[in-house]
Amino acid sequence: MESQDTILVTGGAGYIGSHTVRQLLKRNEKMVVLDNLSYGHEEAVPVGAVTFVRGELADSSTLESIFTQHRIDAVLHFAASTYVGESVSDPLKYYRNNIAAPLTVLETMQRHQCKRFIFSSTCATYGDPQKIPMAEDHPQQPVNPYGASKWMLERVLKDCDRAWGLKSVFLRYFNASGCDPNGEIGEDHDPETHLIPRVLMAIAGEIPAITVFGTDYPTPDGTCIRDYIHVNDLASAHALALEHLRKGGESTAVNLGTGRGFSVTEIIKTAEDITGKRVPVEYGPRRPGDPSELICDPRKAKEVLGWEAVHKDPRSHIEGAWKWLTGPKRGRYSR
Ligand SMILES: NC(=O)c1ccc[n+]([C@@H]2O[C@H](COP(=O)([O-])OP(=O)(O)OC[C@H]3O[C@@H](n4cnc5c(N)ncnc54)[C@H](O)[C@@H]3O)[C@@H](O)[C@H]2O)c1
Repeated sequence: MESQDTILVTGGAGYIGSHTVRQLLKRNEKMVVLDNLSYGHEEAVPVGAVTFVRGELADSSTLESIFTQHRIDAVLHFAASTYVGESVSDPLKYYRNNIAAPLTVLETMQRHQCKRFIFSSTCATYGDPQKIPMAEDHPQQPVNPYGASKWMLERVLKDCDRAWGLKSVFLRYFNASGCDPNGEIGEDHDPETHLIPRVLMAIAGEIPAITVFGTDYPTPDGTCIRDYIHVNDLASAHALALEHLRKGGESTAVNLGTGRGFSVTEIIKTAEDITGKRVPVEYGPRRPGDPSELICDPRKAKEVLGWEAVHKDPRSHIEGAWKWLTGPKRGRYSR
């Protein structure tokens, strides 16, 4: 077994995981990335700087071999199925991948007495907002299987804390966006459902238009408002959450957002301003289950982790995403 403490990053070939790996490398962390590449990209992993294992969360022999070869002191768990719409039509896929599969990781951790877990949770665990901005004590009543699967894993983690002292940080992200400003890694989901990349894909002619779902919400311009959190801000929150647990901190849940909301129309206008091009837009009816506003109360993250978003204006998110889309990789890893 190697002697240096090592972090296991599940889903480290994905969008947020790969940005976090880059940031943790700058902090001289040693890492093993476990990813089955079902959604992620090997090219996003800095092979050579980290150990890459192509494998399944649910494969106990792969996990056992990672924990035997490396001194894993913490797990950063990004791996999941992440499409809300698909979770409604195929809930069992979500309950299997987002709850059942990570149990193998947790069982291996318990066997090896590894007691630090940082979990990519989501504001979707809250369901429809009863109060804006949303704090961590907001009722958790998820309205789709994706949100429910994340909420249930939080519950599993709390039980593991009670039973064998597993300490977890649930990082409840709001809307992740942006790319590393170096333009080398970025967001490449297939299909892409997030607003900012879709707006830019429409400008670049990769999709015919973007559809704005609903213009009659009770918001100043009638379109939905979301809290956009830069992917590098999410990465730095992971580093601080790790520090919190390594210092002996208790299990906790923190929201990650800026505390400011931007409407769909504002995002479109900013993208037009940055690119100097018009966004082809189609207007459709509201989508069921889309709340008019989702805005994070980020105060607890500052109190507990000393974390605060740096990129509070989505302009920098859109600039980074445009650089990625128009850069050498044209917004796509090789497949
Ligand atoms: N993107 C967002 O706006 C957002 C918001 C809230 C929460 N989250 C959560 O953050 C995490 C990362 O999101 P992302 O946007 O980077 O997603 P992503 O799809 O880009 O990354 C997920 C990675 O996990 C891998 N993976 C999935 N199932 C696996 C399995 N069974 N075994 C091994 N690897 C597996 C995929 O190949 C992929 O590389 C997810 O857990 C997601 O639910 C994302």
